[in-house]
Amino acid sequence: QTVKLADYSETDFVFKDVFLTIRLFEGSAEIDSEIRIERRAGTAPDAPLVLDGDELTLTHLKLNGRAVAEADYDASADRLKVRNLPADDEFVLHVGTRIVPERNTKLMGLYRSNGIWCTQCEAEGFRRITYFYDRPDVLIPYKVRIEAPKDAAPVLLSNGNPGESGDLGDGRHYAVWDDPFKKPSYLFAIVAGDLERIGDSFTTASGTEVTLGIYTDKGKSHQAEYAMDALKRSMAWDERRFGREYDLDVFNIVAIADFNMGAMENKGLNVFNHKYVLLDPDTATDQDYAGVETVIAHEYFHNWTGNRITCRDWFQLCLKEGLTVFRDQEFTADERDRTVQRIGSVRRLKSMQFPEDQGPLQHPVRPGEYREINNFYTATVYDKGAELVRMIATLLGPEDFRKGMDLYFQRHDGDAATIEEFVKVFEDAASTDLSRFALWYHQAGTPTLTITEDYDASDDRYTLTLAQSLNQGAAKTGTEPMLLPVKFGLVGPNGEDRAVSASRGGDIRDDVIQLSEAEESFVFENVGGKPFLSVLRDFSAPVNLVHAQSEADRLALARLDPNPFNRWRTLNDLVGERLAKAGSQTGDQPTDPLGNELVGSIVETAGDDGLDPAFRAQVLNLPADMEIARLIGANVDPDRIHAAATSAREAIAAKGRSVFERLLNATPADARFSPDAASAGKRALANAALGYAAVGEGRPDRAFERIGNASNMTDRQAALAILVFRFPDHEMTQRALDIFYERYESEALVLDKWFALQGAAPGTATLDRIEVLYRHPRFTLKNPNRARSLIGSFAGMNPTAFNRADGRGYAWFRDRLLELDAINPQIAARMATAFRTWRMLEEERQRKIHDVLSGLANMPQLSKDLRDIVDRTLA
Ligand code: ARG
Ligand code: ZN
Repeated sequence: QTVKLADYSETDFVFKDVFLTIRLFEGSAEIDSEIRIERRAGTAPDAPLVLDGDELTLTHLKLNGRAVAEADYDASADRLKVRNLPADDEFVLHVGTRIVPERNTKLMGLYRSNGIWCTQCEAEGFRRITYFYDRPDVLIPYKVRIEAPKDAAPVLLSNGNPGESGDLGDGRHYAVWDDPFKKPSYLFAIVAGDLERIGDSFTTASGTEVTLGIYTDKGKSHQAEYAMDALKRSMAWDERRFGREYDLDVFNIVAIADFNMGAMENKGLNVFNHKYVLLDPDTATDQDYAGVETVIAHEYFHNWTGNRITCRDWFQLCLKEGLTVFRDQEFTADERDRTVQRIGSVRRLKSMQFPEDQGPLQHPVRPGEYREINNFYTATVYDKGAELVRMIATLLGPEDFRKGMDLYFQRHDGDAATIEEFVKVFEDAASTDLSRFALWYHQAGTPTLTITEDYDASDDRYTLTLAQSLNQGAAKTGTEPMLLPVKFGLVGPNGEDRAVSASRGGDIRDDVIQLSEAEESFVFENVGGKPFLSVLRDFSAPVNLVHAQSEADRLALARLDPNPFNRWRTLNDLVGERLAKAGSQTGDQPTDPLGNELVGSIVETAGDDGLDPAFRAQVLNLPADMEIARLIGANVDPDRIHAAATSAREAIAAKGRSVFERLLNATPADARFSPDAASAGKRALANAALGYAAVGEGRPDRAFERIGNASNMTDRQAALAILVFRFPDHEMTQRALDIFYERYESEALVLDKWFALQGAAPGTATLDRIEVLYRHPRFTLKNPNRARSLIGSFAGMNPTAFNRADGRGYAWFRDRLLELDAINPQIAARMATAFRTWRMLEEERQRKIHDVLSGLANMPQLSKDLRDIVDRTLA
């Protein structure tokens, strides 16, 4: 059952509009759907109407008000087929289904969480509610009437604007919602429950007042205030930056405890994982605040990039996701700090997307086929997809990019569009040919960009050569040279970008080389002495950079480069290369893997009060072990990497001792909490310093003490993390965990942190502790956040414990996957991607993983979701 892009065709029938009546009862729900339908011109007169379903039971079926004869339809759990339909006239199909939201543990379609009825329809959840054309190119207006018990569900919400509501007697009531905007089924939503609300309003640039509401569980609404603030800032930003105004009278957000993903952009009714709404200083970290801000913005921005303009089919998923991630990144850059934002996105890209793109789950940003679409909500579609939009913006420059975006909204508003149409608006707006660029959407893999320099002192002539290459990977999608922007500067000894232009070579616009051939050279005359090359500034293209530059030059750039992102990257890359060398199996294991100069440079940067604290914290945050594994690429032994990273940290701690003491004292633990980016940056720096101070002196008590006197969760969790990660087997760590547990036993989101930290604790002793935690009364597989907290962090973020040499980590994880798969296949499949880099490991571990994966592949009960991941990972 592979779905192929090449097989796309329009539906045989055209839907005009739908009226849904949803009756909610304890233990079941009844759905009546009235669809106005017309045969599409060109459809054969005897063609049947075939609608999607998933685990559905049909209760009745009428055509133009009359029951359809048994001979004229087939209804199975996953399909409804109706024959002998009117040849020319429009007709009304009336479909009744009954479902049990309480038993819907997949959390797709209509389900109940904490007593609240809610829906998740993307990608194919609507077919779990009623038979429908459940595909994104069927755009119609929806009218919805919800009926429910008043006590369990005083609040009744759906998309669009509220209509009439009233009493039904018998303790029941109803509400009608009308969405005037045509939309696909995946954007449909209802929520019904006993919810608390905070309200606000926003006046759009053209003067419409929009009523804003955020709904939460009882007693939690005060925790939604920051989310409301983020929403208003998002609305204002989209007007300022992209000229996009909101279009309905109301905008509602609901926070739900059991939710498969981060959040969902349903028209006018965003449904969120409560993790991305609820916050206060005592329970949430700065990272949580930043996460809420990002996700609130992301879902809001989907109103234009996703809802007003949606995707023709699911192969175009990056059309809305890549673009919307780009937009939320730009929002964060404008609201917080551009450099720090970019460092965060690049770290994420390299740690999540690069491994995917270099392993068996590789796929292009716009895939050509899938077996299970839910497995394509990936780092490649989202994060690499955002990089592609960013490259268009860099290639075109801000003015032409904005012109292209304006044209996109103007030309495609109300459409279900394609990537080809998206690229075309920029070609038209900037009168340029982007065909070499469009290859990025179709060719999977991370290209290598190789830089060579030549300086001729006698002529003061500098030659820069760039070569790109792409290896054929698992997706086998081609390796043609692509158009990519390479932002660069020739830096002089005083940290000045030299104003020089190339006398020979290809296309350079301002400081951006528009590289499109496999290899291109650029010659610069009279450069004023040998420059330091600062290249791929701001990570202007998602490539592996190969640039043989002397350590002296790199360390000079780490101090001088006017591009602050590249200052960070220079240090981070140096650390990565050194740790890869020290951690690779064949190399010898030095006690000082970074070398004195690099350590000195890191400490110097950390101590430079002229720099932004958040930036300095990023410099102190060494690349994760898994990033080092990727750099090594083959025959990886996670224990060796961990040992190398540990010595590196010790070296930094020793050298920076006085600097770290100073940084610690500069930020008192009881400073009053404000979640703004500047304050968060100070906390990040102080907590990084605390980590090095504790490690340097071998003193877990310093972190332990901080847990006691911290006035906010950021500092408390950071201190606990120092204990768990740096002193995993110390008795003080267990004590700290116990104290933390007692304090937060009843706070679900904090308990998730507690489980997640322990799941990620390095070392071989971890698995035994995890087995105990797995039986903890607060642990459950039914809540996705909780399942991810322990099992996801173990398999996905704990290379030493998961990859125990004896293979016990793999076996334990396999058993959990099977249990989870029976409850929630989407989450099981997502977690199974922890094996995506298994071919990098040394042979013995590979053999053990191979056994586990082939064992899974042979199990008949696997869900389609999990089977797809297992099969592709093995292939
Ligand atoms: N569209 C949602 C978002 O990016 C995510 C939906 C994820 N859906 C899924 N089936 N995995 O905001
Ligand atoms: Zn999205």
